[in-house]
Amino acid sequence: MLQYYEPDQRHLDPDLDYGTPPSTSETLVELTIDGKAIRVPEGTSVLRAAAMVGINIPKLCASDNLEAFGSCRLCAVQVEGRRGYPAACTTPVADGMAVTTQNDRLARLRRNVMELYISDHPLDCLTCPANGNCELQDMAGVVGLREVRYGFSGENHLDAETDASNPYFSFDPSKCIVCSRCVRACEEVQGTFALTIDGRGFESKVSAGQNEPFMDSECVSCGACVQACPTSTLMEKSVIESGQPEHSVVTTCAYCGVGCSFKAEMQGDKLVRMVPYKGGDANHGHACVKGRFAFGYATHKDRIREPMIRDAINDPWRTVSWDEAIEFAARRLRATQDKYGRESIGGITSSRCTNEETYLVQKLIRAAFGNNNTDTCARVCHSPTGYGLKTTIGESAGTQTFDSVMKSDAMIVVGANPTDAHPVFASQMRRRLRQGAKLIVIDPRRIDLLHTPHGGEAIHLPLRPGTNVAMINALGHVVVSEGLEDHDFIDNRCDPEAYREWREFIAEERNSPEAMEVVTGVPAALVRQAARLFAEAGNGAIYYGLGVTEHSQGSTMVMGIANLAMATGNLGREGVGVNPLRGQNNVQGSCDMGSFPHEFPGYQHVGDAAVRQHFEAEWGVTLDDEPGLRIPNMFDAAVAGHFKGLYVQGEDVAQSDPNIQHVEAALTSLDCLIVQDIFLNETAKYAHVLLPGSTFLEKNGTFTNAERRINRVRRVMPPIAGLEDWEVTMALSNAMGYPMNYSHPSDIMDEIARLTPSFAGVSYDKLDRLGSIQWPCNDAHPEGTPTMHVQDFPIGKGHFAVTEYVASNEKTTRKYPLVLTTGRILTQYNVGAQTRRTNNSKWHPEDVLEIHPSDAELRGVREGDWVGITSRVGQTVVRARISERMLPGVVYTTFHHPETGANVITTENSDWATNCPEYKVTAVQVEKVSQPSAWQRHFEQFDERQHQLLKTASPDPEATDAPALK
Ligand code: SF4
Ligand code: SF4
Ligand code: SF4
Ligand code: FES
Repeated sequence: MLQYYEPDQRHLDPDLDYGTPPSTSETLVELTIDGKAIRVPEGTSVLRAAAMVGINIPKLCASDNLEAFGSCRLCAVQVEGRRGYPAACTTPVADGMAVTTQNDRLARLRRNVMELYISDHPLDCLTCPANGNCELQDMAGVVGLREVRYGFSGENHLDAETDASNPYFSFDPSKCIVCSRCVRACEEVQGTFALTIDGRGFESKVSAGQNEPFMDSECVSCGACVQACPTSTLMEKSVIESGQPEHSVVTTCAYCGVGCSFKAEMQGDKLVRMVPYKGGDANHGHACVKGRFAFGYATHKDRIREPMIRDAINDPWRTVSWDEAIEFAARRLRATQDKYGRESIGGITSSRCTNEETYLVQKLIRAAFGNNNTDTCARVCHSPTGYGLKTTIGESAGTQTFDSVMKSDAMIVVGANPTDAHPVFASQMRRRLRQGAKLIVIDPRRIDLLHTPHGGEAIHLPLRPGTNVAMINALGHVVVSEGLEDHDFIDNRCDPEAYREWREFIAEERNSPEAMEVVTGVPAALVRQAARLFAEAGNGAIYYGLGVTEHSQGSTMVMGIANLAMATGNLGREGVGVNPLRGQNNVQGSCDMGSFPHEFPGYQHVGDAAVRQHFEAEWGVTLDDEPGLRIPNMFDAAVAGHFKGLYVQGEDVAQSDPNIQHVEAALTSLDCLIVQDIFLNETAKYAHVLLPGSTFLEKNGTFTNAERRINRVRRVMPPIAGLEDWEVTMALSNAMGYPMNYSHPSDIMDEIARLTPSFAGVSYDKLDRLGSIQWPCNDAHPEGTPTMHVQDFPIGKGHFAVTEYVASNEKTTRKYPLVLTTGRILTQYNVGAQTRRTNNSKWHPEDVLEIHPSDAELRGVREGDWVGITSRVGQTVVRARISERMLPGVVYTTFHHPETGANVITTENSDWATNCPEYKVTAVQVEKVSQPSAWQRHFEQFDERQHQLLKTASPDPEATDAPALK
């Protein structure tokens, strides 16, 4: 009787390639491979089944992130009772099958295959950049290739020219074995379809776009093809230049809220390449151009390498020791408080920093500054998510894993542009769309997701900016009036009184698509079609971004989204849910860690005496019970003269916040501005103390992505200025007289776990063991919570909220007849401080204004003309790009370049509940101009002066030889 071994599908080695993707079948079949008896899911390939028991059948065209293709024939095996030599990668297992993977005949066959490949391949292994990491070379070794009987003088491709147009990788067709792995990776993994195999037989070759250089094709430089290539045909230029890495560290990308895991591959302290890590639960081995390639900023010459101080912002900088800088900062902060009172100082945490760093900054403010004047850049992006979701479903976070989308039948994407802002998740969405899921996009712009190659049914609701709530109400109205509600869900899971009230409101005729058509500009019939499609789909998921939150009704819209999900029963299981797509890498974490002025970590209100007592006992201080100032209140108070000191860690408010001229006035009014950053950013130009920041490569910690997933960040190189960011905050606290004493960020996480119920079970040990954890992680969910609200909501019953549509105060007029809306693009990140210092700028060297052809024609504007954009608060000048992606009457720009000053134009209108700025709606006029705006001229002069001051920074003549902190 055979004993069948059943490999554990959940704990496979992410560093091994099992040849073909896993099967999800629950039916198991039994077979033997080389005499080993195994039991695997039906649909598994023989190649994969063998790999799972340690039998490595040679392969070249197969990889476990691609569907089997069966072109190289290297994986030939023999199956008892069958004729010939089937390819193991395309042969599914079957009950009772007996497979032989090794015998003389198979060995000969494989050697013959390899001989053919090698006869048309350069024999320069010793000087090839892939030497030591080449599957072709490995396979030649494995099959025992000793001679090539065909010789090397026949027709070949050895003279084919290299395409080096892409700044990050090159394509050398002389090395290509036409295995199609790159083509399939571009289709199946990335979803761009930029590559094809042109020609047939000997003529066949890989071609980008319409046989163009990679740089001119649709390629978005994700690197999936480079990773898939088994030879050095597609290869990172960094590896060609530096050679193969010799060790690696698994860490987390610091760019966006997807939170992709990477192997940072190193030579000593030098980062050679970032390889997306297959064991990463958010990305499963995929990446985008930012995380994959744009890491050069970490060693850029512009990095701030030494602490600096000065008395006034027009003074030259003095470089000083860490001790002196910290002492100077603490002295000034104390002096400010002595003069203007305890409330006169505060701090801003960053969604780019780790959880531990963010936690420490808010602790410093509450415990050492003695007030709650802490806020975060999430104020200007996802604060309405916190308010809206907490009110309706009781927890301020997305409800699903990214993988959940693979079970969605319909998805609504509202105010988000995932292919640019969350590219790896967008690839997963596209995979699901290719499988037939339906798509509804609510956005003034025709986003790229609508153009998913081989995608199914898609509806675009191109609404006017500022009318989201009108649209969500109209969708809710159709659900209610056409009887599409999920009554079971509503009866069992939702508060009946709140539901009755909402239902009465939403059923009113004024909320119908017909009544709202004049507001949104979208035909009622299309809205009805979309509502039916979503409500009747089965599993409906909603994904949203800053196009929802950055409005005067941002919080209302978030509640409207939750209402729709509850009304249609789309919460509490896989494939459904309400999912905010967080912009920066740690927006979720910075909110979780108590950055907001009214909440301690874990969204616990500062006014709650029991909560406060808990924190007071752990921190050993008395804590303020009044919420502190939000960022806009800090700026107003600074201009008014009673807010005088600010500590900003890793945030650039002078570029990212609205109405920049007001921000500049506020920063200029401060007596003490401490900026901790990796570059002289726009905010740092107003600083008195400049503390060098550390990049994600230089520190330990954790980030929490948009799915509540806590991922480890691991130090791969020493911090450029000697200290990790958390050590600097700790030093400042000690200098302020409040002792902090952590020896590693894991100590900080242990403290977070003691104080934050949703993090109670989190520790570095567990993170290292599990790879990542989605909070809540506690006694009830010791390994975390992939899907939230399965049984009930943290507030018990789901709360329907009445969401009255109120038009924005920002109205178009004859003077300002167009609506400006802002967003981001794939290759740049946020304020661009990092990506502008990489080759990503080759794709987006400047911000431009997208304008509809009819609006352009009316103004005599042509492609590439300089245009002035004027709002009621400011003016800036950029080049025009004529585009039909916008509706007539709507213009669009990005904010990645400081000299553009997109936020010179945006106003201080904000969300009624959270003060999140209304970036997405600004009434503007656009006209042709011939010179920069007055603000841009001033910017240029100030920028030049500050760079000059930095360049001439001198060592402090009074500096002692005091050793650096630590
Ligand atoms: S880099 Fe990405 S998008 Fe470009 S060709 Fe390769 S797989 Fe396709
Ligand atoms: S470029 Fe690489 S992956 Fe693509 S067909 Fe050639 S060898 Fe295969
Ligand atoms: S930027 Fe986002 S999608 Fe791109 S690699 Fe980083 S985490 Fe992944
Ligand atoms: S690996 Fe199976 S045919 Fe290529």
